[in-house]
Amino acid sequence: ARITYVEFNGTEHVVDVPTGLTVMEGARDNGIPGIEADCGGACSCSTCHVYVDPAWVAQLPERDPMEEDMLDFALEPDPVRSRLSCQLRVTDALDGLRVNMPERQI
Ligand code: FES
Repeated sequence: ARITYVEFNGTEHVVDVPTGLTVMEGARDNGIPGIEADCGGACSCSTCHVYVDPAWVAQLPERDPMEEDMLDFALEPDPVRSRLSCQLRVTDALDGLRVNMPERQI
């Protein structure tokens, strides 16, 4: 699926992320700055925090309780738009997804 990652400074990166990878892995594998993913995708660091484009929020599976808890440790989490990108699995349905990176990862 084609995913657009928008850095805090507005720089956009459009990449094709294979189905089955996570949104975090798509950024990591393409060298996109702004997602650190210190824990490697285990939902235990919050440094893969992104803000999902408002148009896409409702298309994503809901947060599980662990993601919800970890988001509290992120910088300025938004109750609606914030997600941990390691918990977002890429499917064909996410073609066109846009995510914004926060100013920094904690
Ligand atoms: Fe650590 Fe997502 S990579 S919570």
